[in-house]
Amino acid sequence: MYRLLTNCAVTVDMFCGFKNMKVIMQLLSFVACVWIVSAAENEIFSSTDQVMQLVEEERYLLKIFRNYITIEEKNLNVLKGILELLTQRSNSEDSEDSEEAMSNPVAAFKLIQRMRIEWVTMVNSTKKSIYEEFQVILHSDILKIPSNEDIAGAALGLFSLQEIYKLYPDDIVKGTFFGEDEAYLVGNIAYKQDKFQLAFHWFLYSLKMLNHPDSRPSIRVVTKEILLSYLSTSAYKFGSLPVAINYTKQLLNLDPTNDKVKHLLKSYKTLQQTSISYYPNIFKLSTKSHNTYEALCRGNVPQKTIRRQRALSCRYSTGGGNPRLILAPLKEEVEWNEPRIIRYHDIISDNEIEILKNLSRPLLSRTMTKSGILNTLVSQSVFLDEDNTVVVRVNQRVADATGLSMETAEELHVQNYGIGGRHEPHYDAGFDENERIATFHIYMSDVKIGGATVFPTVGVALQPKKGSAVFWYNLKKNGDMDLRLKHAECPVLVGNKWVANKFIHESGQEFRRPCSLSKWE
Ligand SMILES: *[C@@H]1O[C@H](CO)[C@@H](O)[C@H](O)[C@H]1NC(C)=O
Ligand SMILES: *[C@@H]1O[C@H](CO)[C@@H](O)[C@H](O)[C@H]1NC(C)=O
Ligand SMILES: *[C@@H]1O[C@H](CO)[C@@H](O)[C@H](O)[C@H]1NC(C)=O
Repeated sequence: MYRLLTNCAVTVDMFCGFKNMKVIMQLLSFVACVWIVSAAENEIFSSTDQVMQLVEEERYLLKIFRNYITIEEKNLNVLKGILELLTQRSNSEDSEDSEEAMSNPVAAFKLIQRMRIEWVTMVNSTKKSIYEEFQVILHSDILKIPSNEDIAGAALGLFSLQEIYKLYPDDIVKGTFFGEDEAYLVGNIAYKQDKFQLAFHWFLYSLKMLNHPDSRPSIRVVTKEILLSYLSTSAYKFGSLPVAINYTKQLLNLDPTNDKVKHLLKSYKTLQQTSISYYPNIFKLSTKSHNTYEALCRGNVPQKTIRRQRALSCRYSTGGGNPRLILAPLKEEVEWNEPRIIRYHDIISDNEIEILKNLSRPLLSRTMTKSGILNTLVSQSVFLDEDNTVVVRVNQRVADATGLSMETAEELHVQNYGIGGRHEPHYDAGFDENERIATFHIYMSDVKIGGATVFPTVGVALQPKKGSAVFWYNLKKNGDMDLRLKHAECPVLVGNKWVANKFIHESGQEFRRPCSLSKWE
């Protein structure tokens, strides 16, 4: 990130040579220094819950800062008092002939004791500064504040929301004040990620904020020159040459003597004369979906699915006469019949959910998938063992609902999604000798917007509902992987998404889910 910002500033300087470069470099290197100091390994952006804790952290840091200033002010007042006193004494003695005065043994004694005691008091008081102590506190606390990677990660989360839900900066900032500097930073990150269209829109937004400034205080790092030059390069890199030319012209209007900009404009125009005449429209985000996953996330559920879903049913289940369920039968809903995807309602209580979250919070750590991190999955997770009775109870309920053995199942896997938190299409099985035969996916929160579990091959999108769970077999009865059960978690647009997974394995289920030799089951 340090390189990102300084590089950008240098790039801009190269062809627009704006005047207050020095101030900007100072600000940027200030930001960069803070970032280097705080390059911690924890990634806050990958858990909404941790982001929420930052609010407290910020309040705490403000309190320390305020206390520090209060104490320093008091200290300074004491010092001013001493200065006043010493000045008065010194002046009153200056008025006399000093040689005469010092020949008086009593006056000489007074001077000696004053020099000794009062000045030592003064020196002692200046030592009382808590500046160093404050530094120590701040430096230990700065480790808890977001790191470099958090800023980039949070920005990538915004980009994935924009890409999947087709959102312009104005749509995504709705209801939040987002200033020109913030938008400029987001634009920079997009630019570095080669997301030139998104970068362009963030710079455009930043320019709008710059031209219609809010009354809010701002350091104001970004200038019109910087934005115009970035708008022009982003448009050029996206392939929209006429737009690049337009912004380069505007840049030249600001400083008609700038030779670098003149030269750039000339080379763009030459290029325009020699190149093809089709240019993509950078102002309009494409509304085409790359795949069914994204379409389902946006709520484009196929017609056939809607028709078929009407035929699906709801019923009470006692798990085939399980004594634990006879008095409290499960509310079972068939979300899809072939392959079977079942939803259980009210499978876990709010209180149990809160306990599971409380157990998980201190243990959450970034989830890795085999295909790498950042771009496919943004969440933090933890496996909970059976030390807590609630975990035991939930595992038992999964066993009762599914009729499967939990002997070889994995520990309960609790997950909290982060900014733009998602998990791209994947299979739960396919890693192991002893495969994950089935998945029991418990929703521990409602999600206001986004965050559905989607099955692109089947064409089903399931919205999280707190306290409910969905269940499916990853393997067919013959032991082959059921390719129809590829699934994904859509990005969370608004909300805090918590889930708990129970991954149930093959071994131990021989008498519970009889296998089949048929190729089709
Ligand atoms: C100055 O501070 C030292 C150590 O903190 C202390 O021993 C000494 O008495 C102080 N002197 C005065 C004049 O306050
Ligand atoms: C050039 O930019 C101005 C201001 O952003 C805009 O109003 C105008 O439509 C643009 N022209 C073209 C050809 O893009
Ligand atoms: C969970 O933790 C919070 C905060 O520490 C506490 O107030 C709450 O009572 C806990 N809930 C349960 C069910 O233990």
